Amino acid sequence: MIKPVEGFSKLTKDQKIEWLTANYTENAQEAKLLLKRYWNEDKKVQQLHDEFIENTISNFYLPFGIAPNFMINDRLYAIPMAIEESSVVAAASKAAKFWLKRGGFKTEVLGTEKIGQVHFIHRGDPGKLWSFFESIKPKLIEEALPITKNMTKRGGGLSAIELRDKTSKLDGYYQLHCTFETLDAMGANFINSCLESFAQTLKREARAYAPFTKEEKGMEVVMSILSNYVPNCVVRAEVSCPIDDFKIGHNMPPRQFAEKMVQAVEIAKVEPYRAVTHNKGIMNGIDAVVLATGNDFRAVEAAVHAYAARNGSYTSLTHAQIDKGIFKFWIELPLALGTVGGLTNLHPLVKLALEILGKPSATELMQIVAVAGLAQNFAAVRSLVTTGIQEGHMKMHLLNILNQLGATDTEKTRLTNHFKKHTATHNEVVKAFNKLRNE
Ligand code: MEV
Repeated sequence: MIKPVEGFSKLTKDQKIEWLTANYTENAQEAKLLLKRYWNEDKKVQQLHDEFIENTISNFYLPFGIAPNFMINDRLYAIPMAIEESSVVAAASKAAKFWLKRGGFKTEVLGTEKIGQVHFIHRGDPGKLWSFFESIKPKLIEEALPITKNMTKRGGGLSAIELRDKTSKLDGYYQLHCTFETLDAMGANFINSCLESFAQTLKREARAYAPFTKEEKGMEVVMSILSNYVPNCVVRAEVSCPIDDFKIGHNMPPRQFAEKMVQAVEIAKVEPYRAVTHNKGIMNGIDAVVLATGNDFRAVEAAVHAYAARNGSYTSLTHAQIDKGIFKFWIELPLALGTVGGLTNLHPLVKLALEILGKPSATELMQIVAVAGLAQNFAAVRSLVTTGIQEGHMKMHLLNILNQLGATDTEKTRLTNHFKKHTATHNEVVKAFNKLRNE
């Protein structure tokens, strides 16, 4: 029977591993060796990783891949992607190459506004609350100056503070709804610090506000936190070409291909079961670049899906149309990203990823990430409406199956060649592998 552990975080790394492997693994010796094999040889690098989170015992690797040939606004990028799914980088690269010969990707940032809220309860006269808010607004701003000063100097900072009455949704519920411009920072720390300052000012000033009753003076701040919903921090990426440019690379007439692409997107617009998978394919590209550049993919995921459901039903993030013989395919999505702060100047591979991308500003990174999502969606939908997804997917997954079977390099080469001409299913791969082994 395993007993709860006291003070785990205070143990040394070796002690943590000792305790964990003794209590939770079948072969403690093997588990220990495995955990330590993944430590970085460079002690400094390892310490850096250890200190990212609490209770680090090892590193967890993901492949760091490159999708080259992305022409974005007439500049050529090689996009770093951190992802485990076999076909994603291959699909992105294929889509990049396809659009390279058709004018590349065009992008535009539509907004960069971030949001934070102080959620509080006021049970009393709403009129008095509005007057109170107007009277303390300059103080809210002034007392946050030590936090906002530098960001304001660089052209960002607090853009607005509003009082919002939410009492129709929840008894006594009001908000300070605040908007920010955080420039190249994702801005979570900046926003949360500002909000906590506003909350302090709000509470203190309420206690001193003469027109308030005793109950009104005891205004209760529930919490102060940024919102990951950023419907006004949005980027758009687009590709287009004459339908006739689809002559090569498809097993169907160009117009039929273009029409099927549009139909597939229309289906994702009206059918949530399809929209979720359609958008999941987009997030394959988005998350991989977000992760490689040290950004918070959970925040991005939450924001993107809320945005996809903003009109009351979950829908496609991409759009497609044919107009006067021109096929147009585009994406619009919220992306709150940073290229300074956080992991961006700490994690060695993140620093390299940003260097590979030409040390982009946050708005440039938004555009690159949106392109990765659009390219991924184009590649997935193209496969779906032509060959089906399994052909390409299994080709990429083949090596995973062969690795599971313990294939040697020679066996891998022979079987990869074999499956260039044959359909790869799990069963077929196992069969071909056994046959080769028994030869
Ligand atoms: C698989 O990770 C993603 C796809 O299912 C996306 C799609 O269906 O559009 C291929």
